[in-house]
Amino acid sequence: MSSFKTLDDLGDITGKVALVRVDLNLPMKGGSATDVTRVEAVKPTILELCEKGAKVLLLAHFGRPKGQRHSTMSTSFVQGDVEEVLGKEIMFIPEVMGPVVEQSIGILSAGDIGLLDNVRFWPGEEANDPEFAKGIAAHGDFYVNDAFSAAHRAHASTEGLAHHLPAYAGRAMEAELKALDAALGSPEQPVAAVVGGAKVSTKLDVLENLVGKVQHLIIGGGMANTFLAARGVDVGKSLCEHDLTDTANRIIDQADHAGCTVHLPYDVVVAKEFAANPPSMRICNVHEVSSDEMILDVGPQAVEALGDVLKTCRTLVWNGPMGAFETEPFDTATVALAKTAAALTEGGSLTSVAGGGDTVAALAHAGVKDDFTFVSTAGGAFLEWMEGKALPGVAALMA
Ligand code: 3PG
Repeated sequence: MSSFKTLDDLGDITGKVALVRVDLNLPMKGGSATDVTRVEAVKPTILELCEKGAKVLLLAHFGRPKGQRHSTMSTSFVQGDVEEVLGKEIMFIPEVMGPVVEQSIGILSAGDIGLLDNVRFWPGEEANDPEFAKGIAAHGDFYVNDAFSAAHRAHASTEGLAHHLPAYAGRAMEAELKALDAALGSPEQPVAAVVGGAKVSTKLDVLENLVGKVQHLIIGGGMANTFLAARGVDVGKSLCEHDLTDTANRIIDQADHAGCTVHLPYDVVVAKEFAANPPSMRICNVHEVSSDEMILDVGPQAVEALGDVLKTCRTLVWNGPMGAFETEPFDTATVALAKTAAALTEGGSLTSVAGGGDTVAALAHAGVKDDFTFVSTAGGAFLEWMEGKALPGVAALMA
């Protein structure tokens, strides 16, 4: 992995102004956040900078206001949640540059925190306008990026600032980059990838990248149906992208050429209606799905076989659930495979890295979120990384 600077490379920062890009794009309900994982992730960086005596200015986006002030998208809405997680009061600053920011910095003492307003209120952010980045940079002595989940955006606060100030990866970014490198950069082999979720169309680039990098590609969720259909299986009324069967066959051929084994379920859980514990539910071979049934989960024999595959692997990267995990009992395969992966990780034979919104929810549901080697809370950025793309926010730190 190319190298990047971390907080360990900072000299004396007493009284210096740190511009810290964090991801405070929190899911909200009734005025407060329903999940503060992203704040918890950046807490070590913020507190470390405070302890070292910096004045910390938090820079973040909140929603997609498209370059205009939007009354419901001010970062002031998350101020309370951030204060609660950090256990510290912070000062809200309703600008990102100019005299108000300068005066606020004058009021802050060493070790204090200011929260700048939503950087996406200004069009220069998403345009990655160098003048805009320069204007923000003028207030700081150095820049810390701790927002991996926004690193797929080439915006002024995620990429541009790194060209105007000495740039460092925060602790969360550092952990994320190390984990991702261990998973696909220079992994211990054999490597298995679990790719699930509803649609092949949303993960085509992921699949095409992975077949060249992993030895085992385990396909689950609705997307497995498209692959099964491509193999001539009648999937009944299952969710299936029939127009993508040629694409699915192409991916299988690419995998064959690259020496990657594609694992599709051979037994499945089906039902005539999608509801919790439907009376019509049964387990059958994939070739026995009738025309009025839909596949809702991977079957128990396939799950056991997949567990055996994981036992032969040293590295696992996981994105997407194996079945319709939000509705019982179609969470069974996801939970069982996640538990196997967690046990192998605890036993020391497997490095397991997972990411993506649904995946984090599925692992939390299985009770193993803390037992994987690393679980990324990034959505789009994690997928783009799985697609093998360079992330602008990360590339700027490497420069
Ligand atoms: C996210 O919530 O995934 C990140 O904050 C990125 O947000 P965006 O998709 O609006 O760029």
